Amino acid sequence: MVDKESALWSLTGAGDPKIQEAGRRLAQGALVAFPTETVYGLGANGLDPQAVEKIFTAKGRPQDNPLILHVASLEAARELALDWSDTAQCLAESFWPGPLTLVVPAQSFIPAQVTAGLPTVALRMPDHPVALALLKAAGVPVAAPSANRSGRPSPTQAIHVLEDLPFGVEIILDGGPCRVGLESTIVDVSVDPPKILRPGEITQEALIECVGPVLTHRDSSPVEGPKAPGMKYRHYAPKAPVTLLEGSPEKIKDFVLALEGDTSVVFLAFEETLELLARDSKEPAAELRSMGSRTRLQEMGRRLYDELRRCDQTQAEAIYIEACPPQGYGAALMNRLLKASAERVLHL
Ligand code: TXA
Ligand code: MG
Repeated sequence: MVDKESALWSLTGAGDPKIQEAGRRLAQGALVAFPTETVYGLGANGLDPQAVEKIFTAKGRPQDNPLILHVASLEAARELALDWSDTAQCLAESFWPGPLTLVVPAQSFIPAQVTAGLPTVALRMPDHPVALALLKAAGVPVAAPSANRSGRPSPTQAIHVLEDLPFGVEIILDGGPCRVGLESTIVDVSVDPPKILRPGEITQEALIECVGPVLTHRDSSPVEGPKAPGMKYRHYAPKAPVTLLEGSPEKIKDFVLALEGDTSVVFLAFEETLELLARDSKEPAAELRSMGSRTRLQEMGRRLYDELRRCDQTQAEAIYIEACPPQGYGAALMNRLLKASAERVLHL
């Protein structure tokens, strides 16, 4: 058992010598949680099956859900791939370090605990100075899922990791809040054309510009089944039921004003919609939370998981969230929102 307080390591920056120590311990088999630009990861030595198994125990994660290997360089990624296509090279050169994970044919020395026995492996070079310093210090590929307890939102702050995983994680490196806040885009480049398995900040449009046609997770026929194995698992839903509100800000404003005050309701909305509400003299019954401007969806991505965690700490009995257009980065946001709401959408 690890002492709760001592697990959380504050850092002076990416040059902090504590990162070297964390890297050594990681290589020797310890679990180390670390910040990335997307969400916090729960890292283990990706070439050590026993260390990797600790991840599944700590998270309560199903064994047949494979992990992403994190690397500090493109060269390190190529060594883990049985085949590295021109498409993989082009995407890695364009978007690494960054919020993009590439699924490629796996080298046979990669433990089955990482790949869940699949012939492919997921690889990513994160764009965070602390993550890159840790990966260099460890000197091994680092298997890391999001550092939440299975079924909770991904952690976007070190404190979320401590809340979810108070035991079994030796070190939590505190790198402050994550810039992106949603998990990386996953692209399967072991198939032609490449296919997005999970949307993220790197959009389909950006990928197409780089390598031509790219399919999305929505293009798969139902018989094909889930290709990102993680897609078949229950995803995070707050304790209170979530409903997405789709419609003009004016219609959404009217809906929220009509809510009765006898149940406790949280409403997550864009700044513009909240301004409309403020202009109206009536007090809405709902507790209002801003997701930032609808013209800067990045801000909604950054805040979403923290807001959902907060909802669970209140007595909220119902949560309403303003939907966003599913284009560009909106595709990633709507993907997470539809999961959190079990696809309950009100068209106003
Ligand atoms: O942003 C991220 O990707 C974060 C940070 C920590 O890097 N990591 C993350 O890991 O979100 P995780 O384990 O929560 O999600 C990884 C997803 C899972 O849904 C898993 O099924 C899928 O990647 N995956 C892993 N290996 C795969 C493979 N070989 N083929 C298809 N999907 C794979
Ligand atoms: Mg996860």
